[in-house]
Amino acid sequence: MKVIGTESSQILASRIADAVRAEIVGVKFSKFPDGELYIRTGSISDEMVVVGSIVDPDSFVQLLLLIDTCEGSEIQLVLPYMGYARQDKKFHDGEPVSARAVARAVSQNVNRCITVNIHDPSVLLNFSAPAKNVSVAGTIGDYIAAMALRDPLVLAPDDGAARFAQAVAEKGGWDCDHLDKTRISGEEVSIAPQKLSAENRSVVIVDDIISTGGTIATAASMLMHQGAREVFAACVHGVLSGGAFARLKAAGIREVACSDTIERGCSRYSAAGTIAGVIQDGKKTAGRR
Ligand code: R5P
Repeated sequence: MKVIGTESSQILASRIADAVRAEIVGVKFSKFPDGELYIRTGSISDEMVVVGSIVDPDSFVQLLLLIDTCEGSEIQLVLPYMGYARQDKKFHDGEPVSARAVARAVSQNVNRCITVNIHDPSVLLNFSAPAKNVSVAGTIGDYIAAMALRDPLVLAPDDGAARFAQAVAEKGGWDCDHLDKTRISGEEVSIAPQKLSAENRSVVIVDDIISTGGTIATAASMLMHQGAREVFAACVHGVLSGGAFARLKAAGIREVACSDTIERGCSRYSAAGTIAGVIQDGKKTAGRR
């Protein structure tokens, strides 16, 4: 087995290769004069793990090109961050189901797909190959444990992230809750933990994605107003679009951390171990057949 990654998933691909004790294949990435992408890979093997987060149009095309280069091999596709997954239904007439379009495009010529904390697991039904979603909640729990905070309170920013926050909190047996929005007047909303108080607590807000940072920045300001001692933010996918990091820091958040599903300066923990576990399980199952 060998591992190969798109340009924006090089570090994660190498970590996965180390974890499954496989060789990483070198790739030359460049562009033709008209802007079309070109890739040339080193020698591939019969069994390939192709790793690529879809973070922009180029990373999507590179992934398709890598999959094509591996044609004829048994391919396990790892989509650490699947861009377009949030448009998982037609919200208005005339819209595509973008998650379905992307899932179909990348999974047609692969044998198996692995996603990480995909926004909605129902998206997996759109893959043409068997697909498995893994969670790095435990890894985020380990990161929080290493921070050695006194009696932290783990908070989900909304009901939708409550189960994820619970899985993170279980790692350390910490208190856990989710934030609720209450409308006070036409213009005023209050955001507070549903059951617990944030007063004098070290709060860690956890979510699957930080995109603009708006959700967590607003929540952090409210929590500090309610007397939280300090607020941290930890997510799986640090999309961090348009000044999100500075926005979060300006809101008073002590530390913002994400995984390496999208490689960022604040990637503090890796999804490699979790992904490698699934790849190795797949190998064992295949070996037993
Ligand atoms: C929403 O359902 C997601 O779980 C995140 O809460 C959302 O994508 C965060 O977006 P933003 O950082 O732009 O507030």
